[in-house]
Amino acid sequence: MTIIDETAESPGPQETGRPLLEVRDLHVEFSTRDGVAKAVNGVNYSVAAGETLAVLGESGSGKSVTAQAIMGILDMPPGRIPKGEIFFRGQDMLKMSGEERRKIRGNRIAMIFQDALSSLNPVLSVGYQLGEMFRVHQGMSKKDAKAKSIELMDRVKIPAAAARVNDYPHQFSGGMRQRIMIAMALALEPDLIIADEPTTALDVTVQAQVMDLLAELQREYHMGLILITHDLGVVADVADKIAVMYAGRIVETAPVHELYKRPAHPYTKGLLDSIPRLDQKGQELYAIKGLPPNLTRIPSGCAFNPRCPQAQDVCRTDIPLLFPVTERDGGELVGRGSACHFWKETIHG
Ligand SMILES: Nc1ncnc2c1ncn2[C@@H]1O[C@H](COP(=O)(O)OP(=O)(O)OP(=O)(O)O)[C@@H](O)[C@H]1O
Ligand SMILES: [Mg+2]
Repeated sequence: MTIIDETAESPGPQETGRPLLEVRDLHVEFSTRDGVAKAVNGVNYSVAAGETLAVLGESGSGKSVTAQAIMGILDMPPGRIPKGEIFFRGQDMLKMSGEERRKIRGNRIAMIFQDALSSLNPVLSVGYQLGEMFRVHQGMSKKDAKAKSIELMDRVKIPAAAARVNDYPHQFSGGMRQRIMIAMALALEPDLIIADEPTTALDVTVQAQVMDLLAELQREYHMGLILITHDLGVVADVADKIAVMYAGRIVETAPVHELYKRPAHPYTKGLLDSIPRLDQKGQELYAIKGLPPNLTRIPSGCAFNPRCPQAQDVCRTDIPLLFPVTERDGGELVGRGSACHFWKETIHG
């Protein structure tokens, strides 16, 4: 598939080894009746081509708002970005013109949402909606666009794609609809896909299939992938690294398997203890007591302190930075960070 790369004439420093996407000290707030809700409070993360970052955290931790800021689809107002940078191939998207951002959003970064049924148009066939990507963005003829749509439906393993291309969204199962969403995201061969809870609405077994498919395509196309989830179990096998969010901050980052083996933040520990099991499908997280804070009144110090079994005085007064996490003997642990004053006690016991 040939795509005109509209961002090619402005080469970013990606060639010099910078990541595909780099979010730096991002802040997002919303004006609400209650006051200013500080939804994102200094998020830093990055994704390289061919890399999968899982962003994990309870409801309301700012996962989606961060993604919306990247995509440029925040409601503004009431939303506002008082501070931060979002580099895509080395260029700060927050400093681009609306037109430049639209080009990137349409062609280079794609997003997959949780709810395929409400993202697809119920009165248009799936083939028409897929084909629209090629007709609108690449000026393809109707006939070619339809052929492309069938090819894509095959790619995402929809059985009998040619026979089903004229079917409507409601004629597909939830899992198949989510595959169609993946196909739409892939259509223009983006550099980066942001998948926001792409499997949450699906059965556990179908979840795994869709996640495996996404991971397979990500490898094949060598895309960056940001996988947003509140379910650690779902991303364990597909992510390279994890960023755990709480009250709009990253509280822990780690390569995925290390995070599982040795969490360095009490919040991550709590999440790990509450991974849903097959026989407990649909239950809420229960291991961590209490609720996430009201974002108009985030507790002083560490936002997690009222719920933390390890909290001490300093946790109620000082906001912990993301400290580099090291081995007991000081040895380097690449890519590990914890925003806990007591990360040493947490990881080394
Ligand atoms: N348009 C908006 N106006 C006001 N507040 C908003 C708006 N959009 C998001 N928020 C608030 O920002 C906070 C973070 O929301 P966000 O959607 O990022 O959470 P999340 O981590 O994605 O949670 P979930 O797992 O439920 O999807 C929430 O408290 C939410 O109510
Ligand atoms: Mg969300």
